[in-house]
Amino acid sequence: MRVITEKVGDETITVYIGRGALKELSLEGKKVVIYGSGLTNDVRNYLHGLQPNTLLEIDDGERSKNLQTVLSIIDKLIELNLSRRDTLIAVGGGTVTDVVGFIASIYKRGINLTNVPTTLLGMVDASLGGKNGIDYRGIKNLIGTFYQPKLVLEDLRFLDSLEQKNFRQGLAEVIKYGITLNKRLYDYLSNNSERILQRDEEAVEEIIASSVESKLQIVSSDERERIGIRSVLNFGHTVGHVIESLSGFSIHHGMAVAVGMVCEAEISEELGIGEEGVVEDTEWILSLFGLPLTASELNIKGDPNEISLLLSMDKKGYGDKISLPLPVRIGSWKRVEVEKSWLEKAIFQCLT
Ligand SMILES: NC(=O)c1ccc[n+]([C@@H]2O[C@H](COP(=O)([O-])OP(=O)(O)OC[C@H]3O[C@@H](n4cnc5c(N)ncnc54)[C@H](O)[C@@H]3O)[C@@H](O)[C@H]2O)c1
Repeated sequence: MRVITEKVGDETITVYIGRGALKELSLEGKKVVIYGSGLTNDVRNYLHGLQPNTLLEIDDGERSKNLQTVLSIIDKLIELNLSRRDTLIAVGGGTVTDVVGFIASIYKRGINLTNVPTTLLGMVDASLGGKNGIDYRGIKNLIGTFYQPKLVLEDLRFLDSLEQKNFRQGLAEVIKYGITLNKRLYDYLSNNSERILQRDEEAVEEIIASSVESKLQIVSSDERERIGIRSVLNFGHTVGHVIESLSGFSIHHGMAVAVGMVCEAEISEELGIGEEGVVEDTEWILSLFGLPLTASELNIKGDPNEISLLLSMDKKGYGDKISLPLPVRIGSWKRVEVEKSWLEKAIFQCLT
């Protein structure tokens, strides 16, 4: 079992990673487990190990990240008369931890939160760092808060039931850390792709732990994305969110981010920020794990008006500018500000 702790703001966040990590739960007060409907029956059985007072099922997937889901859960929490000393335990993929994290932050102005991610993407990214959110009017994560789970239990047993496609989607975010922040991780991915794709437990634990460390180090130095450091975690996401929105959220986040990273690496080279080869290195590692490189592989086509509208709602924008984290070379990145109008054209070109 690996244990990673990091101080974020006033909180110390503890993450357990390993087979059987659920047994590390020790909490006082009532425990309400909110889990995603996509969990298979074998996996649901693990939830009893958490000894919950109440188990609540919610729909999962991007379409459940909405206000109706939030309000229906809050109605249940009121019925249960939960106090701020009680705990919500979110069990599911990134969509579940995003919705439950948001609920935990607003119910009685904040109730304890534990995350139990059940997808690779959840383990390496969505369950960590305190960002949560729901989609609104077709805009990804338009409504949300920053709210830290004090405890994150990453039980590798959950990955057993994960489809290979879903596993690969999570690898997109692992690759993101490798390209921008962690050359050691990039090299490990390059040298161990077969083992990782075959889910060799030691290799999978290694890439998860390495990703968790990279993410928490960034979050601890810039929890609320105020000084620009945290923006690195958005690499591939500006274009990725456009792709998700253009598809009406039918394209999975990880797939959209994979293509987004290629586009943004191209933008980096075009602006003279990225050194020659950064696009090739990005494409090579993504293809090693069977991830898409182009919009046509996702059956998506850019629409200039939609791109313009989506960029105008992007949280990283202000005035005519938008800030982008761009790779310089493997393991190194830079934040740049670009004109929105220029970026619209660059994204359109990339998605055509
Ligand atoms: N808050 C953040 O910092 C952050 C970071 C990255 C991504 N995200 C968000 O995360 C979401 C994507 O997360 P995701 O990839 O986990 O998607 P998801 O939650 O939609 O889960 C994907 C699918 O996997 C199924 N599933 C979950 N656990 C399973 C298991 N153990 N076995 C079998 N199937 C299982 C679900 O039912 C679902 O169909 C997006 O909404 C994205 O915006 C948030």
